[in-house]
Amino acid sequence: MDYLKHFETIVKEQLERVEEMKKHKNSIDYAKLDKIIIGTVGGDGIGPAITEQASRIIEYLLKDEIKKGKVEIRVIEDLTIEKRAEVNQAIPDSVLTEIKKCHVILKGPTTTPREGDPWPNIESANVAMRKELDLFANVRPVKVPEEGIDWTFFRENTEGAYVLGSRGVNISDDIAFDFKVITTQGVERIARAAFEFAKKNGKTKVTCVTKANVVKTTDGKFLDVCKEVAKDYEDIELDDWYIDIMTAKLVDKKRRTDFQVMVLPNLYGDILTDEAAEFQGGVGTAGSANIGNEYAMFEAIHGSAPRMVKEGRDIYADPSSIIRAGAMLLGHIGYIQEGDKLLKALDICGQTEKKLTITGRDTGATSAAFADYIMETTEKL
Ligand code: IPM
Ligand code: MG
Repeated sequence: MDYLKHFETIVKEQLERVEEMKKHKNSIDYAKLDKIIIGTVGGDGIGPAITEQASRIIEYLLKDEIKKGKVEIRVIEDLTIEKRAEVNQAIPDSVLTEIKKCHVILKGPTTTPREGDPWPNIESANVAMRKELDLFANVRPVKVPEEGIDWTFFRENTEGAYVLGSRGVNISDDIAFDFKVITTQGVERIARAAFEFAKKNGKTKVTCVTKANVVKTTDGKFLDVCKEVAKDYEDIELDDWYIDIMTAKLVDKKRRTDFQVMVLPNLYGDILTDEAAEFQGGVGTAGSANIGNEYAMFEAIHGSAPRMVKEGRDIYADPSSIIRAGAMLLGHIGYIQEGDKLLKALDICGQTEKKLTITGRDTGATSAAFADYIMETTEKL
């Protein structure tokens, strides 16, 4: 491989991406659409089983809208590891075309191949979808009211260590290079999303998390651009933390309640949000919104648990994470009441009332029974 040529190619591609970002794109106004199309993508392993349950709930909550033709739910097949391996693409073209015909996507977990797996080492479907649909804001709320935790993470979702994560090079047997990219436009839009959220939700502080003392150029830019954006929001304070101490402070019960909204580069956001979700009951309880100007995708943040399927236990899989993603989707497309109701029902069914328990095996409830329980509970709200 000609490494300099490779470097030249990726630099050119990134410069083009910046030009694309510069073209000002307004975000879509769902209220103005004649029909909102929700695409559901099951994914791998337990994905199809749990996505189906979340989809049933959305269909139930929006039944009148669906009847009126205002909303359509469309099942998108084939985002499976088998198909992706067959065509050697992170997202097969045919699937991407179908996805792009929808306005929002509800997505189950997809298998991410890694070295040594029986699959070709293709890029993660999540990462590819975030890039293809330009879903730059990964919004992950974590709430533990009894502990005073109310955090919203704005993880940058399209650049950082991820954008060229599959384009690194082994220069020799001894040296490997990966690339990390941060752009002014990329930071500006995630920072603005975080500040706008803070403003709309009465928050007083946005915390920028980097390692700008060491990774000076890219993380330095991230912090600098956040500081620039902060100037437009006089009433909101920007504070600045390094990722190492931030990771520690999240377990510091006295200090962690000070944090409200966090904005951070892709990889730090990936790591910190898993840690944060753990206080709420683990990644299985968290939902994740991937938001761009044109499209948005809502997903479960746990894995595809292929072992459960092999053992015939997928009908007992916990659908909470994808249902939470569904609630975020409802709020995002303007069905705020329905989304809130669903979040409340999730808390009642999963945390407080707990008439059914999911154990992942036949000792507990099936995902379908849990979804029924959720729907019955929304009726009482
Ligand atoms: C997440 C996941 C993904 C990521 C993986 C599956 C590629 O961990 O959504 O946080 O790293 O972004
Ligand atoms: Mg992650």
